[in-house]
Amino acid sequence: MAHRIGYLVGSLSSDSINRVLSKALVRLAPDGLELTEIPIRDLPLYNRDDEGDLAAPIVAFKQAVEQSDGLLFVSPEYNRSIPAPLKNAIDWGSRPWGQNSFARKPTGIIGASIGSIGTAVMQSSMRGVLSFLDAPQLNAPEAYITFDPEVYGDDGAVHDSSTEEFLRHYMEEYAAFVERVLSSALPGHVGDSDPDVMH
Ligand SMILES: Cc1cc2nc3c(=O)[nH]c(=O)nc-3n(C[C@H](O)[C@H](O)[C@H](O)COP(=O)(O)O)c2cc1C
Repeated sequence: MAHRIGYLVGSLSSDSINRVLSKALVRLAPDGLELTEIPIRDLPLYNRDDEGDLAAPIVAFKQAVEQSDGLLFVSPEYNRSIPAPLKNAIDWGSRPWGQNSFARKPTGIIGASIGSIGTAVMQSSMRGVLSFLDAPQLNAPEAYITFDPEVYGDDGAVHDSSTEEFLRHYMEEYAAFVERVLSSALPGHVGDSDPDVMH
């Protein structure tokens, strides 16, 4: 059975290189994955005052995350950290307390940058956040992409065979990881384990 994977693009830019990368990943994903974008653009800025009556885009976002079998984050690095729109989406998804939409979701993190370390610091920050949210992560392979515009077509085509093979392998490993996590999942409470740190 195919697994439904929601992917989040951490950039709102109209010419985002990470959106281009996400298209390549969709093309190269193995047959067992159905990738659908979970949009983050329309989410308001997180405010605890608004938790009591969640706005429609927040409800839709949380439902999309919860209905996904796994999540893939495709994001730039901003100032050596997680871009604000993506962190904002994660903060909404983690709330209200006790309704953490990310719990137990198998996740992958990949990102493209114009810099030589290819979003490594953002990815390291993401790992801490996702650990706290009880979301298992693909540890290896890591995927730090220094974006070369010659290599990627806007439609997701990849014009370099070693890059194509690297990305295909990443998606195969991610699919295998999702399968491992889902097949070992035990029934039980999904949510927050330590109320002291989530309030
Ligand atoms: C606010 C801001 C901060 C940035 N900080 C970093 C950074 O820390 N590391 C990096 O490699 N590139 C950084 N960049 C450059 C991005 O790699 C580049 O803008 C890239 O195109 C962003 O991805 P996107 O096209 O998907 O939005 C930054 C860009 C912006 C706009």
